[in-house]
Amino acid sequence: METPYDVLEIDADADEDEVVRAYRRRVKDAHPDHGGSLAEFKRVRRAYEHITAGRDPSAFDAHPENGQTGSTGPSRASNGRERADGEHGRGSRDGATPDDGADDDADEEEESLGPTVEYLDYEVVESQGWQLTDEDLFEKAEDADLDVDSHGLLVVEQGETLLEAAERYGFSWPYACRGGACANCAVAVVEGELEMPVSTILTDEMKERGIRLSCIGEPVTDDLKIVFNIERLPGLAELRLPAEQFGNARAGH
Ligand code: FES
Repeated sequence: METPYDVLEIDADADEDEVVRAYRRRVKDAHPDHGGSLAEFKRVRRAYEHITAGRDPSAFDAHPENGQTGSTGPSRASNGRERADGEHGRGSRDGATPDDGADDDADEEEESLGPTVEYLDYEVVESQGWQLTDEDLFEKAEDADLDVDSHGLLVVEQGETLLEAAERYGFSWPYACRGGACANCAVAVVEGELEMPVSTILTDEMKERGIRLSCIGEPVTDDLKIVFNIERLPGLAELRLPAEQFGNARAGH
């Protein structure tokens, strides 16, 4: 019988860190746009939720279509994406009514995944001598076969900010205020759009360069490419707040 550890392709005695890293790896393999399928993507996500919820591995249900869509796991993954509620991406957030399952498979592929974010660590950009403006930045990252901590995919669930999604994938990206009042959580959006309800802290010039605040930013395009860990970019250091001011702030990953 298949266990969630089998799905993540790790040993049953894997520790928390191994589970998280295996999940990030498998998310990339299983994503429909990267050679996987929606069914496989859901299976991987369900396996991760099963393990992190501390459930009995022998009770793992490998078949999402059998009615186990309302996960009680630690994330919101099941709540937003398992339902069939219109187009994926921003369109699904704005009032589409749940369908009754009559659509064909192609439609389901469209319906069930949220915005996909390809992430890249700025430390890698610097160490490789790359530039944020390089048109082939993410192609180079793909070719470099980087660790999943530095480069990979994550899917943002309904109502999540980018920072919340990253944390659901086990990342500890930097932040301080979590309210749009500093620049600790800033990311550079290279492709796609991350919409912020307020953005008073960032200058117009920064926004034009694609700088966004991950703690309040939600994707409004289906696909984004972002670079995180950009605190050393010119102009951002002055806007950062000392992490010590905030009880649960994170200085970096
Ligand atoms: S953590 Fe301060 S703006 Fe995001």
